Amino acid sequence: MFRNIALIAVSALTLTAGGAIAAGEGGHIEDVTFAHEGPFGKFDQFQLQRGLQVYTEVCSGCHGLKYVPLRTLSDEGGPGLPEDQVRAYAEAFPILDEDHNRQLYDVEKGEFRTLIPADNFPANTTAGAPDLSLMAKARAGFHGPYGTGMNQLFKGMGGPEYIHAILVGYTGEEKEEFGTTFYENHAFPTGWIRMPPPLSDDAVTYADGTPATVDQMSMDVSAFLYWAAEPHLMDRKNAGFVSVLFLALLATLLYLTNKRIWAGVKGRKQHA
Ligand code: HEC
Repeated sequence: MFRNIALIAVSALTLTAGGAIAAGEGGHIEDVTFAHEGPFGKFDQFQLQRGLQVYTEVCSGCHGLKYVPLRTLSDEGGPGLPEDQVRAYAEAFPILDEDHNRQLYDVEKGEFRTLIPADNFPANTTAGAPDLSLMAKARAGFHGPYGTGMNQLFKGMGGPEYIHAILVGYTGEEKEEFGTTFYENHAFPTGWIRMPPPLSDDAVTYADGTPATVDQMSMDVSAFLYWAAEPHLMDRKNAGFVSVLFLALLATLLYLTNKRIWAGVKGRKQHA
């Protein structure tokens, strides 16, 4: 009941403030639809696999995923790769940022050892790029009027939307300041980001034949990064669904029990 009142109040506000809310603070974030959204949304396994490919072939050159264990690539709720593929993938993964991956240094051999599925993705901060393990949760796509966060109630946190918006938000303008190049980007809060536009059409070739447009690759890698940050999303949704079902059943039983317990008393009253 209380929640409903809140919802009505919020919708009224949304109507009055209109477009101003959609934009939120800072950059402009479009709300796009992902398979994992909504109470019954599931990660699209093929999309996660395509996103992994985009991360591997494009983003991993600068960005690490150091909190994500490689073995989780075979998790059922995730990309679901067969274990031998995960092993091969780990072995082939290059260590680019040697300073930040000292734990992988084999002193006896005097070189960096190859990764195994028990390792995490290596750290990488090339060009000052931040780690992406938790990026999809660290950034909110939507806030709402005056930073109240009301929009999040309707559209979700929007971390993947934010990443998607950044990747498609370049205008093509660039400027040089203090020896650093900045690229104009509508989604980035300051409007200028240090990351050069990482994607161009056909930057990767998808094995499943999906056309690799910038928009498609951005969607795929955003979904993948959301899974990386929230790997148990589907388990949580399932648990939530089961508990709601359980509560509904319990409520019905309690209602019937209550009726039966009081039946005698109530019945007497009526006849009196
Ligand atoms: C050439 C190196 C490079 C590549 C390749 C690259 N990035 Fe970045 N990225 C950066 C740098 C540098 C920053 C920091 C930008 C800043 O703070 O101005 C950054 C920042 C980001 C951010 C954070 C923006 C924020 O809100 O702070 C996200 C998200 C991101 N990159 C995603 C990606 C994805 C996804 C890919 C692959 C499609 C990718 N990047 C490829 C260098 C790179």
